[in-house]
Amino acid sequence: MSAALSTDHPALPARPPVPDGATDVLVVGGGIVGLTAAWRATRAGLRVTVLDPAPGDGATHAAAGMLAPVTEADFGEEAALRLGADSAARWPAFAAELEADSGLDVGLRATGTLTLAYDGDDLALGRRVRALQEAWGLDSTEITVAAAREREPLVGQRVAGAFWAPGDHQVDPRAVHRALTAALARDPRAAVVHRRAVRLLRSPGPGAPVTGALDDAGHEHRAGTVVLAAGADSGDLLADVPEVTAPTRPVKGQTLRLDAPPWFTLDHVVRGVVQGRPVYVVPRTPGPDGHREVVVGATSEEHPDDRRATAGGVFALLRDARALLPALDELALVEVTPRVRPGTPDNLPLLGATSVPGLVLATGHYRNGVLLAPVTGAAIDAVLTGQPLPPAVAAIDPLRFSPASAPSPTPTPRRTT
Ligand code: GLY
Repeated sequence: MSAALSTDHPALPARPPVPDGATDVLVVGGGIVGLTAAWRATRAGLRVTVLDPAPGDGATHAAAGMLAPVTEADFGEEAALRLGADSAARWPAFAAELEADSGLDVGLRATGTLTLAYDGDDLALGRRVRALQEAWGLDSTEITVAAAREREPLVGQRVAGAFWAPGDHQVDPRAVHRALTAALARDPRAAVVHRRAVRLLRSPGPGAPVTGALDDAGHEHRAGTVVLAAGADSGDLLADVPEVTAPTRPVKGQTLRLDAPPWFTLDHVVRGVVQGRPVYVVPRTPGPDGHREVVVGATSEEHPDDRRATAGGVFALLRDARALLPALDELALVEVTPRVRPGTPDNLPLLGATSVPGLVLATGHYRNGVLLAPVTGAAIDAVLTGQPLPPAVAAIDPLRFSPASAPSPTPTPRRTT
């Protein structure tokens, strides 16, 4: 196993013949990543089935929707930055196409992101991160606290410093998921099956193709191509596919949703570090009554998907968020959402065709499933239509954790009917 990045992708394997009664593409997982893959498959003219017991009720349900390659950039994570920046640039066109296809607004807001430092140590950290951003050519500047307050009058009195990233924006993940669901519902080639996959199916014999998935009711769902987009559960579904290792793991995050009345004028994404702890506050566009949803996040816990909100997690998020924006105290707390992100050993996704015919990976998006939806869609477009992968995807080998294998240099999958 190697975590090294590679530009040597396996050649795309031949798409196996679609068995009688099978669909063209089976997508295992119906979060924002899985539905994006399914939507792109229908746009390529393919028949697609999505398998998920509760589509959109995983990481998508908790996600705040920051499109933040700059302010999420971290030491040692340049490949993640490049991938995120590529995808952020695709968001306006992705949103426009999805809105046209679904008839629904996805809540894309080009607001920029303000990052606040609570004390002197937090400011020193912010300056080190800003130097890294500058070295990577990213648009981020230190501004005075007074300038931060001009942008956001609700910034608290005890803030030591501020930074401004004009290109980091936001979208509403639940609205995106609704739009993807609606776009698929309008397309007779698409179906969603509310069952849980328990393992992928394959034909007998070495090098045999993956042919579908078995669900928890014992039904087999056959397809010419399977896109594995099951988040943190993805690795467990590969029991019969030893050539491919997808070491996804759950990283629990708790987010909060608050209801803000019209006087709460917060308009930009506000991130911050409070005595070393990161926190973010994401305000949505106000509704017709002037109220807006405000998302506060997120804990990061190496825990399984227990769906338990904890007193300590909620307390820490509110303590740190109100240190930056004291007016949050007045808002109604309407939802606490504990879900897991799908982490990988190097925090990069597993995205692209594999050496096993019929198997495509679209998983392990960790903290960035929403940000990376457009580039994931572009990668799926490329896999299904035989085009080159976007360079930022091609730079990250989806088989980097798999045993060494000899990819088959055969043609790309194509429409089968
Ligand atoms: N993308 C932010 C988070 O995962 O908390």
